[in-house]
Amino acid sequence: MKKLFYLVTILSATGFFLSSFRSVNASAYEEKNSYQDPKNGKIQYERHCMMCHKENGEGVAKSFPPLAKSDFLNADSDRAIRIVIHGLYEPIVVNGKKYENFMVPHKDMSDKDIADVLTYVYDSWGNNKTKITPEMVKKQRVKK
Ligand code: HEC
Repeated sequence: MKKLFYLVTILSATGFFLSSFRSVNASAYEEKNSYQDPKNGKIQYERHCMMCHKENGEGVAKSFPPLAKSDFLNADSDRAIRIVIHGLYEPIVVNGKKYENFMVPHKDMSDKDIADVLTYVYDSWGNNKTKITPEMVKKQRVKK
């Protein structure tokens, strides 16, 4: 009888250990997928941005400003979010060079896709690693 008691105790302790391990893993998984999804960020970049800003964010002289080491990008992440959502129709200076072009809006991209693509851009090519969340994107949807 005593042996059985030990066995039950050991089994339930093991079960508890395993289930707590699982829940820790699950929450880490959810956090990773709520934003900062580098795989999706890269996919969205290739789909929506690369044709103009180029593979390594270097842009095209006089036409498309660089996203690599961009002082303009790193200075204001809310402004960068607004540019992606609403587009940009006024001259800007990036790394000392003037651009007088315009950028198309990307209103149809989801908050998560915009957060992922900008987090990917900020995490690449010498930028300042700002993390953009879907909540931050949502706030800028209403502002022009
Ligand atoms: C059709 C070409 C085109 C596409 C596609 C495009 N951009 Fe742009 N982007 C531009 C141009 C042109 C400017 C500068 C506009 C101006 O001169 O006012 C710009 C400016 C910017 C800026 C501010 C300047 C800088 O270099 O820091 C950011 C940030 C930016 N784009 C991010 C993105 C992201 C992220 C995507 C993809 C979701 C994207 N762009 C897609 C053409 C494009």
